[in-house]
Amino acid sequence: MPSPAGLGNSSHAPIAVRLTGGESRAYPIMAQAGLLSQLGHACRQLGALGTKVLILTDTNLQNRYLSQVQDSLQQAGFEVTSLVLDAGERSKSLDQAQGVYQTLIQQGFTRKDTLLGLGGGVIGDLSGFCASTYHRGMALIHVPTTLVAQVDSAIGGKTAVNLGQIKNMVGTFYQPKAVFTDTDTLNSLPPREFVAGMAEVIKYGLIETSCDGQTGFFEWLEAHASDLQAGLPAMIHRCAAIKAAVVMADELETRGLRFFLNLGHTFGHAYETLSEYGILHGEAVAIGMRLAVRLSVALGLVDATLLQRLDALYQQVGLSAIVQNAPRFPATEVLAVMKHDKKNQDGGIKLILPHQTIGQVIVRDDIPDAAILSILSNETSP
Ligand SMILES: NC(=O)c1ccc[n+]([C@@H]2O[C@H](COP(=O)([O-])OP(=O)(O)OC[C@H]3O[C@@H](n4cnc5c(N)ncnc54)[C@H](O)[C@@H]3O)[C@@H](O)[C@H]2O)c1
Ligand SMILES: [Zn+2]
Repeated sequence: MPSPAGLGNSSHAPIAVRLTGGESRAYPIMAQAGLLSQLGHACRQLGALGTKVLILTDTNLQNRYLSQVQDSLQQAGFEVTSLVLDAGERSKSLDQAQGVYQTLIQQGFTRKDTLLGLGGGVIGDLSGFCASTYHRGMALIHVPTTLVAQVDSAIGGKTAVNLGQIKNMVGTFYQPKAVFTDTDTLNSLPPREFVAGMAEVIKYGLIETSCDGQTGFFEWLEAHASDLQAGLPAMIHRCAAIKAAVVMADELETRGLRFFLNLGHTFGHAYETLSEYGILHGEAVAIGMRLAVRLSVALGLVDATLLQRLDALYQQVGLSAIVQNAPRFPATEVLAVMKHDKKNQDGGIKLILPHQTIGQVIVRDDIPDAAILSILSNETSP
């Protein structure tokens, strides 16, 4: 089968992220197996990272990758210290940010020095937030280690901390100097986290044409999903390229393009909220994306074969069980939560829906409640 753009031999080439504001804001995203051992060299080549690096990581990464990253940076001549936080969402807080600032101050970090986030989205969002605010902005490197972080959270410059129960309440837009992804780190990721991350990967297959005009990623996933190991770097590279294209066109979420990344998320967030975060974000996205596809089919926006193909792909990657065992909530409750989604304007629920061919989506805010309720009240049927 044809290799979609970005999934051939060029998959190791760095993705160049170019943003308005000139060359000084351009940065590379690299995704390849074994990159951690070359991290120091890769950082050195970037230049402009100062002399000191603080590695921010969590307890699950500490014994696995910290010393390797530390050694690689030291060999490249950096003065390296590290700060290890408890793993989990609770570390994405202002309290922990304060601890990071204190460490930076104690170690004499200036704005020219570097904060390096080694971890999943929690560490990435927190290190981005701290780097963007310490001395009004210091150098930042992302080294994402979960599938979610490698294909999504490390790319795009959104940073955040939670405020009590309110997720991502305080944050900034702040771009790193580079994103260095070692796909080998996924070998130690708990399977549940990997499978949940595949929901975001499949999402890119359903939105790619609307994002960068290309086709074929969904088909590539169908062909490779049952044995992903060899194709991981290519898969992650393609997802990162799609997200980078969207971010380059709509860095600050003012032009609507970034909104396409929310396919399945309005439904999904309602499930996340009602389950009181008892399911992982990616699991909620998998549930939500299937509901969005079913709604599109019901509205005649796409052919019913898309749902069959999505189900077959979910089966291959392990997401079917997630959908089948999804928590059940009354349709009216799910709809009520969806109506409160912060992305809505003028009262209508704003939805991204697959449209016409695989890879294409449209934004609709005029879908009648009755159509949404009908999909929600019949959750497992096609
Ligand atoms: N900034 C953005 O654009 C953006 C986008 C999506 C999600 N997010 C945020 O990302 C966070 C979720 O990220 P996540 O799913 O990566 O969760 P996470 O960072 O909590 O990581 C999940 C778990 O995996 C562990 N882990 C990480 N890498 C590992 C590895 N290689 N081996 C073994 N264990 C490993 C972590 O310690 C943690 O226990 C949320 O806070 C969400 O709001 C941000
Ligand atoms: Zn998401």
